Amino acid sequence: MTESVMQGHGYYNAHSELQARSAQASDPILDTALRELAIPATGPITLADFGSSQGRNSLRPIGRALSALIARGGADRDFAVIHTDQPHNDFASLFTLLQESPDSYLRDQPHVFAYAIGRTFYGPLLPAGSLTFGWSSIALHWLSRRPAIAPNHLWFDRGPPEVRDAFAAVAAEDWQSFLTHRAKELAPGGQLVLVSGANDEGGQCGIEGVFDFANEVLQRMVADGAVPKAAYQAMTVPVRPRSRADFEAPFRSGLLPDLKLEEITIAPTPNPALDNWRADGDADALAQVMTGFFVGAFGPTLFGDDQPSENAFALRLHQAIAAQPEQAARELVTGTVRVSRL
Ligand SMILES: C[S@@+](CC[C@H](N)C(=O)[O-])C[C@H]1O[C@@H](n2cnc3c(N)ncnc32)[C@H](O)[C@@H]1O
Repeated sequence: MTESVMQGHGYYNAHSELQARSAQASDPILDTALRELAIPATGPITLADFGSSQGRNSLRPIGRALSALIARGGADRDFAVIHTDQPHNDFASLFTLLQESPDSYLRDQPHVFAYAIGRTFYGPLLPAGSLTFGWSSIALHWLSRRPAIAPNHLWFDRGPPEVRDAFAAVAAEDWQSFLTHRAKELAPGGQLVLVSGANDEGGQCGIEGVFDFANEVLQRMVADGAVPKAAYQAMTVPVRPRSRADFEAPFRSGLLPDLKLEEITIAPTPNPALDNWRADGDADALAQVMTGFFVGAFGPTLFGDDQPSENAFALRLHQAIAAQPEQAARELVTGTVRVSRL
């Protein structure tokens, strides 16, 4: 495995409620984009979903987009929905879901056609001027590469300044690359709504406490001989949430003359498992959800195909969170950026 994909065989689909709730908080911004974007006069209307994973969390926003555009006069138009992810993504689960889910946007929609592209979204993906609406949720904080290793930690921000600077530099390059390619692919009047991990004014993204637990668990596994020290020392995950200034930077510097930054919202987003724990104090239930979330999103990056190590890690992470739930009890901070093509 060479890329940071999600846990396969549909596992991510079954453990990504938290990501779904984070993205759902952006519905008002999604609706604004769907109201304002220009529908092309002729030909198919193309929607893209950048970083789809196995598709569970794409069904709702893409279905919402299709309904809005059909209501705006697209009833007899053909739609192409293009899901993109890394080559090793579990596309089989995506296509099975599209075919079988009662929530599939393909149901009773003879004019809607679904496709997938297995290629990085930091490069070109679509023909110039072909894209009407682009959506991305909880994907753009994944970097194109791991810029540095934080000594003795999985989370870059727990590393020294030079590690944090290296992550910031690649995050800036990647954001610029993503937008540059989308600027070519969008048709005039097209729009993007991009939801991703973000830092609040205090530089926190909400996931730090869970990463601290994960790091302590791995250090104990190294001490027990369950994980080789060299493997642990290379485990810093290539994720870097962005601040408002990071999101704004390429627009301010004039590097994207064809794109207009319409709005940015950065806010903590709902976590139903946290709400339940605050109401009923069931730390075990919270630990189960947060462990599933963590393993679904980061398991393949940390353990590759080493399922026994991942299972042992998951068990210990669950125990650690259940023992001190208050340390993992932070909402995730999410940034939503709406961009239009001039
Ligand atoms: C946390 S999942 C989000 C999935 C889904 N959009 C959601 O909202 O739940 C992040 C996805 O982004 C994908 N991803 C990360 N880096 C990528 C890249 N450079 N190009 C394409 N996809 C990427 C990962 O493979 C993964 O499937």
